[in-house]
Amino acid sequence: MTLATDELKKLGPQVLVFDDALSLARAAAEYVAALSAEPAIRRQRFTLALSGGSTPQQLFRILAQPPYSLTLPWNDMHVFWVDERCVPPEDEGSNYKHARDLWLSHVPLPRSHIHRIKGELGPPAAAEEYAAQLREFAEIEQDWPAFDLVLLGLGEDGHTASLFPGPVPIAELTETTLAVTARYQDRPANRVTLTPIVLNSARNLIFLVSGEAKAEALAAVLRDDADPVRWPAARIRPRRGLVTWMIDRAAASLLNR
Ligand code: 6PG
Repeated sequence: MTLATDELKKLGPQVLVFDDALSLARAAAEYVAALSAEPAIRRQRFTLALSGGSTPQQLFRILAQPPYSLTLPWNDMHVFWVDERCVPPEDEGSNYKHARDLWLSHVPLPRSHIHRIKGELGPPAAAEEYAAQLREFAEIEQDWPAFDLVLLGLGEDGHTASLFPGPVPIAELTETTLAVTARYQDRPANRVTLTPIVLNSARNLIFLVSGEAKAEALAAVLRDDADPVRWPAARIRPRRGLVTWMIDRAAASLLNR
C-alpha cells in the first residue's frame, strides 16, 4: 500500500536518511525525475528553484547525465534559484554558475527557461528585478509562482537560502525577494534571497543535508519547538506543500537522542 501525496502532507516533514552523500544525490535525482513526470504536478510547466552551496553539486552532475539528460521534460521545465550571491555570473561565488557549468549547459533546457537572479546588479536592484521575474509566473491571488519543487540546503548555523540567524526584517513578511548581507564561511556577503512567503507556498520542498558539521543545526531545526529566529530553516513550514529532508548518516548523527 502506498500513501497519496495529500495523505503524506498531513504527516508533516518526511526525513529520509541515506548512507552517504552520493546515495543522497542519487535519490534526489530520482525524486526530481519522478515529480517532474507527474502530470498532476507538472500541469503545463514544471517550476524548480535551486539552492546554492556545495551540497546540490553532486545532484547537478547526475542530472547532467543519462538517463536524466534524455528524459526530463526540458521544454516544460523552468529553473529559478532560492538565492544568489551578488557577484557576476562568471564568478566562482555565483550559484547560477555552478548549476550552469555542472548541469544546465549539458542539457536541452531552453535558455529562456533559465531565470537567474542577476547578482551583478547589486543587492537591491537584483532583488527588485528577480521579484519582477517571479511576477511573470504569478498564480491566482499571489504575485509569485507556487514552485513545483524547491531545493534547499542547510548551513551549519541553521540558515537556509539566504535567511540567516538574527533579527528578522519586516520585509521578510511582505516581500517576495530580499537583499541580505551576511557573513558565512568565505562566501560573498551580499546576497538576494527568496523569502518564506514564496518558499512556504511551494508544492514540494527538499532539504539536502550532508556531513557531520550540519548535525547540530539539523537536530535543532527538526525540533517541533525550534526557535525560527535562531534557526531560520525552521521558518520553512509550507501551508500545503510537502517537505522532505534528504540527509546522510553523518548529518543525522544527533537525531533521535
Ligand atoms: C548559498 C545557499 C545556502 C546553502 C547553505 C548550505 O547560496 O550559499 O543557497 O543556503 O544552501 O549555505 O551550503 P553547503 O551545501 O555548501 O553546505
